Amino acid sequence: MLDASLPRRVRVVEVGPRDGLQNEQRSLPTAGKVHFIDLLSSAGFEMVEATSFVHPKAIPQLADAAEVYARIYKRPGVRYPVLVPNARGLERALRAGVREIAVFTAASDTFNRHNINASIEESLENIAQVMQVARREALWTRGYVSTCFGCPYEGEVSPTKVLEISLRLMDLGVEEVCLGDTIGVSTPGGVDRVLDPVLARVPRERVGLHFHDTRGTALANTLRALQLGCFIFGASAGGLGGCPYAPGAAGNLATEDLLYMLHGMDIETGVDFGRVLEASHFIAERLGRPLTSKVYQAELATADR
Ligand code: HMG
Ligand code: MG
Repeated sequence: MLDASLPRRVRVVEVGPRDGLQNEQRSLPTAGKVHFIDLLSSAGFEMVEATSFVHPKAIPQLADAAEVYARIYKRPGVRYPVLVPNARGLERALRAGVREIAVFTAASDTFNRHNINASIEESLENIAQVMQVARREALWTRGYVSTCFGCPYEGEVSPTKVLEISLRLMDLGVEEVCLGDTIGVSTPGGVDRVLDPVLARVPRERVGLHFHDTRGTALANTLRALQLGCFIFGASAGGLGGCPYAPGAAGNLATEDLLYMLHGMDIETGVDFGRVLEASHFIAERLGRPLTSKVYQAELATADR
């Protein structure tokens, strides 16, 4: 019997159009990205991370962020946060009509420098500037902390550092923090070590988890976080994803794999599994490559029987 203390409902944050497409060799035409997002919107997610207003040279795959954002159907009740690294990114996002943003920093300096050419302190200063404008514009904001469970350059990361950066982001006014296992190194033991101090200080409704599945532990980590009472999880359709500045980082936890597990445990998500498969199928064809999601592969293999 299902543990009665597990959350009854989970909010799945679909990040495929951003985390997924930022890491693809092949840049998709704008119309394909828009259709992908529209398919995901129709699946019932409360939040679809749409794109990134980072430097187009850093992530050429998302250089058409403004056009993508302008053209997607904004389904009432759905949030479409975009990544914003600094004041310049926010300026571009606001001009495109964005109403929800995600700022991002890390728990390890070396990764942060590779990713955004700034130390953690410098990036928090940039975020402070962004948050000042965000408050004035009444934007909804979330704050990512990358490398919470390990850094591709520094190795182990101290959970105390994760807590410190999370609290700094909360102090700067983000609505929720999102703890990233950027390179997918965590195990359920790591989830305990990182979440115990964070959950002692930050309410669960303001803590999201963002697991990459590099070592196949993302679902196990999710289950452990659920047992600790967390209910906000990022995932990407088909298991797309990765960060070009994190060597060895593979895709995000696949949305299908997450939904399959949650729905099998009678945990509600409000997301239509079949529609997600449709979106994954569409993007697989456009990218011209198979997807890594186990559940997607299984569904594909049994579809014609
Ligand atoms: P920089 O070169 O240090 O920027 O890059 P700068 O502030 O020195 O400015 C240099 C020039 O870039 C200036 O132009 C700026 O205006 C321009 P100039 O005066 O020389 O003509 N510029 C911009 N142009 C467009 N949009 C902007 C922007 N900012 C400055 N936003 C920067 C710093 C942060 C911009 C760059 O390093 C960057 O864009 N990095 C993004 C890398 C990235 O997107 N990584 C992936 C996302 S993070 C991730 O995937 C992890 C996550 O999924 C969680 C997890 O898994 O843990 C979120
Ligand atoms: Mg990520």
